[in-house]
Amino acid sequence: MPGLFVTFEGGEGSGKSTQLARLAERLRAGGVDPLVTREPGGTPLAEGIRALLLDSGHAPGAMAEALLMVAARADLVATRLRPALAAGRVVLCDRYGDSTLAYQGGGRGLDAARLADWNRTATGGLDPDLTLLFDLPARVGLARRAIAAGTPNRLDLESEGFHTRVRERYLELARTEPARFVVLDATREPEELAASVWSAVSERLPATTRKS
Ligand code: TYD
Repeated sequence: MPGLFVTFEGGEGSGKSTQLARLAERLRAGGVDPLVTREPGGTPLAEGIRALLLDSGHAPGAMAEALLMVAARADLVATRLRPALAAGRVVLCDRYGDSTLAYQGGGRGLDAARLADWNRTATGGLDPDLTLLFDLPARVGLARRAIAAGTPNRLDLESEGFHTRVRERYLELARTEPARFVVLDATREPEELAASVWSAVSERLPATTRKS
């Protein structure tokens, strides 16, 4: 598929969403109009699923949680990601299939092979060209999240042990697929991180959209 599919992954408080917004801004300034979206969400149906999933008033079991994440992904891929990539656009997605592998696999302990299979089924095998992993110790991320504005969501409220398992699974995934992942030390200053993000993305931009 033409276009470029970039995903942003990492734990709570890693700053990935801020970096995604900065990257989108920089691309726009260079005349590239990216599709910016997020998971779970990005379509009316998937945003509805997101509201259910993040609401602390619900307590889905691990299976129900995983299946809802994957259902939201199926809708986003079919209705937004595939059409955008087919049209040659750059797609920036805040979280994607690796979040399910890290949170529902590493965090909740669901079987990794089964989750990978569900991801493949839901996405028809659409994998990112590049995954930026914003890595930082769970304790640092949770402390940042605690002082940030807004109410913590249901998953933010999980234990430090949960978030540490999420981080470890992410790092394992990155080791398994070194060509797709770029691991960034998210404790670095935002300016430095933005420069690393730009260098990883700009070298992969399709020639037609590349700007110096
Ligand atoms: P969000 O507020 O977007 O978190 P963040 O700012 O950290 O990205 O909430 C999304 C939450 O959903 C986040 O805690 C990670 C979780 N999640 C999963 O557990 N599995 C998934 O497959 C996805 C996409 C997200």
